Parts: sequence; structure tokens; C-alpha cells
Amino acid sequence: MTLWNDLGRQYEATRARAIVDLIADPARLDDFTVQTSDLYFDFSKTNIDRDTLGLLLSLAREKGVETRRDEMFAGAKINTTEDRAVLHTALRNLDGASIEVDGADVMPAVHETLRAMRAFADKVRSGSITDVINIGIGGSDLGPRMAVAALAPYHDGPRVHFVSNVDGAHISDTLRGLDAKTTLVIVASKTFTTIETLTNARTARAWMVDHGGDPSTQFAALSTAQEKTDAFGIAPEQVFGFEDWVGGRYSVWGPVGLSLMIAIGPKAFDAFLRGGQAMDTHFCAAELHENLPVLLALTGIWHNQVCAHATRAVLPYDERLGLLPSYLQQLEMESNGKGVRLDGSAAEQPTGPVVWGAAGTNGQHAFYQLIHQGTRVIPCEFLLAAQGHEPDLAHHHDLLIANCLAQSQALMTGRTLDEARAIAAKAGFTGDELERQAAHRVFEGNRPSTTLLYPQLDPFTLGQIIALYEHRVFVEGVILGINSFDQWGVELGKELATALQPVVEGTQSSESEDASTAALVDFIHRQRD
Ligand code: F6P
Repeated sequence: MTLWNDLGRQYEATRARAIVDLIADPARLDDFTVQTSDLYFDFSKTNIDRDTLGLLLSLAREKGVETRRDEMFAGAKINTTEDRAVLHTALRNLDGASIEVDGADVMPAVHETLRAMRAFADKVRSGSITDVINIGIGGSDLGPRMAVAALAPYHDGPRVHFVSNVDGAHISDTLRGLDAKTTLVIVASKTFTTIETLTNARTARAWMVDHGGDPSTQFAALSTAQEKTDAFGIAPEQVFGFEDWVGGRYSVWGPVGLSLMIAIGPKAFDAFLRGGQAMDTHFCAAELHENLPVLLALTGIWHNQVCAHATRAVLPYDERLGLLPSYLQQLEMESNGKGVRLDGSAAEQPTGPVVWGAAGTNGQHAFYQLIHQGTRVIPCEFLLAAQGHEPDLAHHHDLLIANCLAQSQALMTGRTLDEARAIAAKAGFTGDELERQAAHRVFEGNRPSTTLLYPQLDPFTLGQIIALYEHRVFVEGVILGINSFDQWGVELGKELATALQPVVEGTQSSESEDASTAALVDFIHRQRD
């Protein structure tokens, strides 16, 4: 616990200090900004100083981040509760060496699947398909859905839709207006057992049959379970398989990215993979103090575990990254929302933060009030492109940039009581009323934020950003000593839902349920009657 204790003492000793005073040091930007080929990460607007950073880097070393990283990339079975390797990095290892799992090189199959995906995507893009529906949930939905939205300017294929929720409203609203004869349905499910996905897939198949489509040619599947896709009736040549060493929330780089590949084309998809690969190279090669995923992780550890700021706001000033917070919620909270360490003992620290956020500037007009003047400190992570894709609307982008930079400035500098008094006086208030009005206009300031800049949201950049966050989650997990690659916490709810289904349907009595649940079911039944 020594380093954790040292960090705690460091926090107590420095918590009242003003970040603006740190920024006044002309050398600060040298140590608290990092640039890779084209990403620029600024964590100077935090209360992390050189001593703190030194302690955090020591913590990363002591917890074996470098060794664990090398084990992951080499195919070691670091997902110990499921006895699996963690090799989503192999899916973007376009030029890399062989990687062995259980004595066999996984790369030939990765390349073969990628070739098959490209051929299929080309066929779909050049044929009569007008619309593609990706049916999946969690990692089989959020990654491609987010990436498809992010890369809208690169779409030159059929329209792509996503259905995830078992709520019949989702598939119903999506199918309305589509032509069953020109729609391709992709069923994305790593396990091919997920009840929401299978229910939606069956509904889509019935719709296709009823409306003159042909599921034998218009259905494809993305899964690790070919016997189950066979049983569902999906033609084997339209099944794109992957291995259990790809976690669902890390799977957009392989077959689960097929809808993205169809939308933007195999060439742009390759650029996306190359972006991920570039971040892998950086993560493996850069010294820890210049290593982007490591620095993002250490900033996270400082704010969440040391300063006890329980949530983290992700604020992309990029409309097309509006789904990034949702995507990161699964990536970070399913990966690091754990209560026990690898050896089964209780976690020593609070684990993953609550991640939330929305695209700027919209969020400014919704929840930023709380971020600026609420009683909780919420570390903010801004993301921003130097340029947009709308050259005719450059003035919009300038305004977007100004707003983003202004927010991180405002969080840091705040507004003093004297400044607030001057504003209230100017507005005509005097005496006690001036004091009262001024109090409402004070901004405490000293609220930490980081900013990630990138040239433009293109496929290569998006690949870098996603891989950056993946590795950040990994580093945080290693430091916390937890397994970031299982998700036992979602199982209980699934089991209970299965058990409750006959009770809801009315074929089984609710008497063995708890009183609250029984009364809820009873109310629903009465409403239906
Ligand atoms: O919600 C739990 C989970 O297992 C996620 O980890 C996963 O991404 C999602 O369900 C979907 O699983 P599958 O791809 O197997 O349908």
C-alpha cells in the first residue's frame, strides 16, 4: 500500500493548490502534454504535478504494467477467470509477426477472415442491397454503431441501421419503410445465445419472409459459435467467425465491424485497423512517461482512486462522436467495474469510475451547470478535431473549438467572489442584494480536465482513439489488480430474467417471487386485462 499511501498524502498536501498556478510554470507543457504522430494529449489542466506524476509512474511500474502489456500482446491467457487470451490486437496486427495461442499461430485465420469480409463487403456494396441491419447488443452493437456514426463522411455504401433493444419498438421502427427484398440482416453475437439478439433476429427473419425477401441469402452472422449459426439457418459462407480471445466490447476490429466495412468500404476499414495498430505500436514502444494510454490511465487513477472523484465526463466536441460516451460506458464499466482482484480477494481501491457524457456543445446547455457549480468535482475529458469535414462551414468549427477550449478554461480559472461582485454591481445590485446575487455567480474553479486533440475524425484517427481507450482501460485494470476481460456481473440479471419470463407471461405463479416483484407483475397483469 505504500505508493497508494504516498499518493493519498500527496493529494492531501496539494488539493487546495490552484491549477492556474501550476500552468504559470513555463515548463509545465513539456511534461504534461504528449504528442504521438497526430494525437495531442494535454493533461496540464489537472492538479497533477511532477511529484505526483512520479508517484503514479512508480505505481504503474510496481504493478507490472509493462510486463502485463507484453503478456497480453504475446497471447498469454491473462483473462484467468475464463482461461482466455486477450488478443483483439491481433485483429489489427496487419503487418505484425505471428502470435501463438496454445501453440498455434492465430494470424493466418485473422487474415483469411479479413479477406472473406472484404470480398463479402465488396459484393454487398456493388449489388442490389440498399439497407443493412446489424442486430446485436453490447459489444456486438456499440462499437460498430459508434464507428458508423463517427465516420459518416466516409459512407459510400448501403444505409446501415442498428437494432439492439429487445423492446419491440426498436425493430419495429427500424423495419418500417425498409424493403425486405433489398435488405441485408447481419446477426452479430459472439455467443449466439443472447436472448435479445436472437429474438430480434427471428422477428427480422419472419418480416423478411412475409415481405418477399430471402433469408437464405440475405442473412449473415458474426459469431464464435458456428454450430449455432448453422442451427439458425444462416448460410455458412455468410458466417464470419472469430475466436474467444476477442472480448465482445473489443470486437469492432474483426467480423463485428462488418457493418462498418460495408458502410465505408474495405479500404477505409483498413485505415481504421491501421489506426488501431499505430496505437498498439505506440503503447508497446513509448516510455511510460510519454505513453498516451498510460498517461490517460494514470490521470484516471489519480482522479478516481486517489482524489475520490467517482465519475468521469467524456465530452467530445464532435457531433459524430456523440455515441462515444455510451461506447466507453461498456468498455470502461464492464471491463473495470469489478469488486475482486485476480486472486479473488476484495479490491483494495474503488474500481472503475462511472463514465458518462455527451457531445459538446449540446451538453453545455444541459448538465454543465452541475459540472461548473455543483458540489461534486467531475474530471472532464474533452476531445476535439482541429478541423471538421465541412469546409464551407469552417466558422461553425471555429465556434465549436472556441467553446471547447473555453469550457476547460472556465473549469480551471473559475470566477472569484470579487469578480462576481463586480458583475452584480454592473447589473445594478447594491448592498445585501448585491452580496446575495454575487454568491450565485461565483465559480469555484480549480476543476480538472484533459483535452485530446486530433487533426480530423477520419478512419485512421478513429482507430487510434478507440485503441487508446482500450489500452487505457487495460492499464487501469492492471494497476487495480483486477481482470478487465470478464463480465460476470451481467449474468445474474440474465438468469433472473429467464426465470421471470413465465411469470410475466402468466404461465407460472408469482407467489415465489419477492413481494415487490410480485406486486409489480400483478399491476402489469391488471393493466393488460
Ligand atoms: O451484456 C453482457 C454481454 O456478454 C457483453 O459483454 C456482450 O458484448 C453482450 O453481452 C453481447 O453478447 P453476444 O455478442 O454474445 O451476443
